[in-house]
Amino acid sequence: MKDSPILIIGKNGKTGLRVEQRLQALGYATRGVSRSTSAAFDWEDQGSWPAAMAGIRSAYVTFHPDLASPTAEQTIRDFVALAAELGLEHLVLLSGRGEDGARRAEVGLQQGGLDWTIVRSSWFMQNFSENFMIEGILNGELSECVAAISEATGYPVQYAQIPIEDFIDALRGQCAPESLLWLMHELFTVVFDGRNSKPTTGVEEALGRPATDFSEYLRKVMATGAWDRSGMQQQA
Ligand SMILES: NC(=O)c1ccc[n+]([C@@H]2O[C@H](COP(=O)([O-])OP(=O)(O)OC[C@H]3O[C@@H](n4cnc5c(N)ncnc54)[C@H](OP(=O)(O)O)[C@@H]3O)[C@@H](O)[C@H]2O)c1
Repeated sequence: MKDSPILIIGKNGKTGLRVEQRLQALGYATRGVSRSTSAAFDWEDQGSWPAAMAGIRSAYVTFHPDLASPTAEQTIRDFVALAAELGLEHLVLLSGRGEDGARRAEVGLQQGGLDWTIVRSSWFMQNFSENFMIEGILNGELSECVAAISEATGYPVQYAQIPIEDFIDALRGQCAPESLLWLMHELFTVVFDGRNSKPTTGVEEALGRPATDFSEYLRKVMATGAWDRSGMQQQA
C-alpha cells in the first residue's frame, strides 16, 4: 500500500505522532489529520471526514475523547461505513483495555467488512507527561506512581485521595466539558478498579521486546524536560 498515503487520525496525539514518524522513517507516505490540520478531521463533524479520507487505502484511527465514551460506538460505525464507501481496505483502531464502551466500538469496526487491526492498550504512562495529568505533576500533586516521579524529579509530588464527586465538581468549576467529566468518572470508577493492574504479554508478542517499564519511562521523560519546574518557580 506504499502507493497511497496512510491516514493518521490524531496526528498530534500521543500515539498518532509516533506512528506517523515511524511510518515515514520506513518510507511510507502519510496524511496526518486532526481538527487543526489543513485537511481537518473532526470526530464531531462528519462533514469533515470525506475530504480527509479521499485517496486513502489504510488508516490508523485514534478516537476522541475516548473510545469508551457513549457516542463512540455509533461514530465508529458511521466512520467504517464511509471508509468502505470510499474504498479503504484496512483500518487500525486504537482501543482501551477493560472498557465495555471501547469493546462495543471495536465490534462496530469488526462488523464493518474491512480488514481490521485492534490495538487494545492499557493506560499510557505518557498521560503523566503529555496529557491532562502533567498539570497535576507540575503542581506537585496527583495520584499513584507519584513516589517514583517525585524521586526522579527531585521535588515533592503528593498523592491526595479525594472523593470522586469532589474531583468532578472541581473540574466542573473549571468549566471542563461534560464529555471530560464523564470520562474522568469512568476512568476513576471503572478503568482503575483493578481490572487492568496486571500487565499482559501483548507488547512482547507484537514487538518481540518487553514493554517499557515505569522506571525507563521516567528516565526518558526526565531527558525531555517535560517535568522541569524551573520556569514556574521563577514566575512565583
Ligand atoms: N490515554 C490513554 O491512556 C489511552 C489508553 C488506551 C486507549 N486510549 C484511546 O486512545 C484514543 C486517543 O486517546 P489519547 O488519550 O491517546 O489522546 P491523543 O491521541 O493524545 O489525542 C489528542 C489529540 O486529539 C485531537 N482531537 C481532539 N478532539 C478531536 C476531535 N473532535 N476530532 C479529531 N481529533 C481531535 C487533538 O488534536 P487537535 O486539537 O488538533 O484536534 C489532539 O492532538 C482514545 O480513543 C482512547 O480511548 C487512550
